[in-house]
Amino acid sequence: DSEPIVLGIETSCDETGVGIVRGTTLLGESIASSVEQHSRFGGVVPEVASRAHLEAMTPTVERALRGAGLTLADVDAFAVTAGPGLPGALMVGVAAAKAYALSLGRPLYGVHHLAAHVAVDQLEHGRLPKPCVALLVSGGHSSLLLVPDVATDVRSLGATVDDAAGEAFDKVARVLDLGFPGGPLIDREASKGDPAAIAFPRGKYADGTYDFSFSGLKTAVARWVEARERAGEPVPVADVAASFQEAVVDVLTHKAIKVCRDNGVGDLVIGGGVAANSRLRALAQERCDAAGVRLRIPRPKLCTDNGAMVAALGAELVGAGLAPSALDLPADSSLPI
Ligand code: KG4
Ligand code: ZN
Repeated sequence: DSEPIVLGIETSCDETGVGIVRGTTLLGESIASSVEQHSRFGGVVPEVASRAHLEAMTPTVERALRGAGLTLADVDAFAVTAGPGLPGALMVGVAAAKAYALSLGRPLYGVHHLAAHVAVDQLEHGRLPKPCVALLVSGGHSSLLLVPDVATDVRSLGATVDDAAGEAFDKVARVLDLGFPGGPLIDREASKGDPAAIAFPRGKYADGTYDFSFSGLKTAVARWVEARERAGEPVPVADVAASFQEAVVDVLTHKAIKVCRDNGVGDLVIGGGVAANSRLRALAQERCDAAGVRLRIPRPKLCTDNGAMVAALGAELVGAGLAPSALDLPADSSLPI
């Protein structure tokens, strides 16, 4: 195979991810997470995340290489998440990638975290259709993107104006005393509850934009639970979880399909940690089928933050013949798309 081998590094939040890709083939990957160190705080602590990246970086690179049966000398190019993300966390990855690229005399590609979440789907389902629409939902972002070409042209059409979808899951899980991260725990509780039990608000549902708002929903859930507790009545946790989850995925899928319809696009990609949500997957499939849209959701391991997504986009940039980044590439915590 003559396509270049690209090693990608992701450190924008709490996962130290390394992936190795050739074309659209995943050759190896490894991930280290500091999620347990954050759980007692109920959210990611930036300084703790940065320190954990520093400790995990080299061993994670070595594990990924070993898994692929490769050595550093086999790597043709390096890619790294340049932003957006936590500033100190990004800096660890960018500094490491520069060191590898410089010492081995290989090109370095700084990539956008959201574009990487889209590109990773190629490792599972083959080349992305051009154009496609992407819905990215995680603890840090909730975005709708129009993607004429993942390497060169990714346009943001809408995003959350307050909390990210995953953040809402995490906060509501805290209100229900379920633990952190809350998404999987709410998902599990919700499977035992009635999604129509409580009519929680669908923020910005019909406002004509492609934006989202979840903070009003989160507050509505907290108020509802407080009222129950004040009245000395038991909280029906499964019903609250199911009704909250339904409100989130109803708006997400409604707006994602709207972007497809409005732009005449027939393919939707969903990524980010919340893409693991069972109800989101089911409702998205149902609504895509009804709208004649093809749905692509990579396996959960590729949906959450990982290094393979960075390598996947890096391989795409190399393949498109784009110039590498300069070695003074900055880490940009609010990198625009
Ligand atoms: O992509 P990710 O691993 O990290 C970033 O935030 O970038 O996403 C993590 C988020 C957390 O908020 C977590 O609660 C949520 O994804 N999540 C879920 C599920 N699994 C993870 N949310 C809803 N349902 C799930 N099954
Ligand atoms: Zn992410």
